[in-house]
Amino acid sequence: MSDFFRGRRLRMKPLLRDLVRETELRPQDLIMPYFVLETAEKNVCRPISSMPGQAQLSPDELDRRVARAVDKGLKAVLLFGIPARKDPLGSEAYAERGIVQTATRLLKERHRSNLLVITDICLCEYTSHGHCGLLDREGEPHNDQTLELLARIAVSHAESGADMVAPSDMMDGRVGAVRAALDESGFVNLPLMSYAVKYASAFYGPFREAAESAPKKGNRRSYQMDPANRREALREAGADALEDADILMVKPAGPYLDIVRELRDSFDKPVAAYQVSGEYAMIKAAGANGWLDETAAALEALLGVKRAGADMIVTYFAEELLGRGLL
Ligand code: PBG
Repeated sequence: MSDFFRGRRLRMKPLLRDLVRETELRPQDLIMPYFVLETAEKNVCRPISSMPGQAQLSPDELDRRVARAVDKGLKAVLLFGIPARKDPLGSEAYAERGIVQTATRLLKERHRSNLLVITDICLCEYTSHGHCGLLDREGEPHNDQTLELLARIAVSHAESGADMVAPSDMMDGRVGAVRAALDESGFVNLPLMSYAVKYASAFYGPFREAAESAPKKGNRRSYQMDPANRREALREAGADALEDADILMVKPAGPYLDIVRELRDSFDKPVAAYQVSGEYAMIKAAGANGWLDETAAALEALLGVKRAGADMIVTYFAEELLGRGLL
């Protein structure tokens, strides 16, 4: 026996490496976000320049694209809407014929139990001021008045057939408010995935172009979390767990892997992580420049998120990786 550890023994053959691999990415771990555009036109696909490969899609185009992805093994989508009209109350967010409601009905009709349709619950894509809640006189989102609207959005998504709702607004008490409204409307068995730990991140930049949701004035620091804080993440996740969130999410993913691990170790609920637009854009940009192998980097980044403890990952890479048979 040598007097040092021979770690290479188990790395000598591909089958041995397979045998001892600890973490695996599976198609059913991934959730693919889509941006649906409210438009009377057909075949609309407006590429998002800061997110190569992603686009704002008209409902018919979304329908075709999702059908192709489901054929390749996609199991879950997360829908964001871009309404034709915005107002201070974000009323298109809870309109019966709203864009997410329409897209949800379309996708559920076609795919039924073969696809999970998850909907984002937030006001920022629907408000003329671009904040995630109703504004008070000082121009800050009014927490408690916003809750009622978030609850209405969730119920209208549920009525359209959504399989799960995902509140991303970061108002206090939203999980409880949404849960109560769903229960009262008879959706006691509809799960809720909370963006429990959502940081005020520079990595959302490309998304705000994609969803046309950048705040016109100010920023989101009075409701999204300070990137410096770890213990606060436990308080936020704890609150959402008490309010009966079924899945706890950390967002962004890559710069917050310690937080993903912290939630995994501290809670017995499933943990999700959102690899956000900026994380996607970085890998795509470096790949396009020939600075790194884009596919390998994407797979490694996602594997890292799983290894950190995420049970599932929201990622813009989902469609492409599945389409190319890489998972
Ligand atoms: C809306 C919302 C945002 C994202 C998901 N839901 C943006 C924000 O908070 O500004 C970001 C997703 C991404 O960057 O991919 N509240």
